[in-house]
Amino acid sequence: MKLQDKIALITGGGTGIGKATALLFAKEGAIVAVAGRRENKLRETVDTVQKNGGKAYYVVGDISKVCETEKIVKETVSNCGGLDILVNNAGVFKGIKKTETNEEEYDRIMDINLKGTYFMSKHAIPEMYKRGGGSIVNISSTLGIKGIRQSTTSVYAVSKGGIVMLTKTLALELSPYKIRVNCICPAVVETEIFETLGIPNEKIPERMKMWESFHPIGRNGKPEDIAYAILYFASDDSSWATGSILNLDGGVTAE
Ligand SMILES: NC(=O)c1ccc[n+]([C@@H]2O[C@H](COP(=O)([O-])OP(=O)(O)OC[C@H]3O[C@@H](n4cnc5c(N)ncnc54)[C@H](OP(=O)(O)O)[C@@H]3O)[C@@H](O)[C@H]2O)c1
Repeated sequence: MKLQDKIALITGGGTGIGKATALLFAKEGAIVAVAGRRENKLRETVDTVQKNGGKAYYVVGDISKVCETEKIVKETVSNCGGLDILVNNAGVFKGIKKTETNEEEYDRIMDINLKGTYFMSKHAIPEMYKRGGGSIVNISSTLGIKGIRQSTTSVYAVSKGGIVMLTKTLALELSPYKIRVNCICPAVVETEIFETLGIPNEKIPERMKMWESFHPIGRNGKPEDIAYAILYFASDDSSWATGSILNLDGGVTAE
């Protein structure tokens, strides 16, 4: 098993990519903590891990609040006994026209996606020092590295672009301490994140179908496609990788 007895904290572990990652990590022997705002979703992940014979905990918290990022890390350490791996996966998406962006929405997206990732890392790092090293895996987006014409995603894109640069600077700062920091940029992955797109829920499957053709490989991603790459960066299989930015996008950025 690739993560035997490692302790991993996954933000947004109640749904989508975070949930798939939690289930995979537990299968690979990790003790898993999942964090997010909706307790019922987190409990579902924990129940599934436990039913499969794994160890898991959940911490309810909002990563857009700095004091709660500290609480999430502290509770994880006290429940699990330390921290080796942080997956900064929690995030929100919203398409907003530039002329309609207001300060509240700008702050909400930036506070969750970028500030949350920054302060989760800040509080996790001292715990990794104590363990003699660790791995941080950040989830950015294709939109964090590539502009898209006629897109309404500038705030999201800025938040995700910030995660790419945060990955690089943290990787350099933390290399002497054997803490590796890497980042994955997915294109469209079929999860509930698109329920906040601003289109009626019944239209989402139609939109998903349309997006398939954006990917040269001919399909959208599945949460597990991303979870396997997160596992790679979390485990010793990637012991020489730090500051890496992985385009995981069915070929979108190859064009
Ligand atoms: N799906 C895609 O096409 C795609 C593409 C590129 C990148 N990504 C990125 O992948 C990551 C995972 O998204 P997903 O696709 O798996 O969507 P998802 O199922 O909606 O997952 C997002 C998770 O983040 C959590 N979250 C949101 N705001 C939070 C907050 N303030 N504090 C704590 N947790 C919070 C949510 O839980 P609560 O609501 O319960 O807090 C949810 O579990 C995100 O960072 C997203 O930007 C997704």
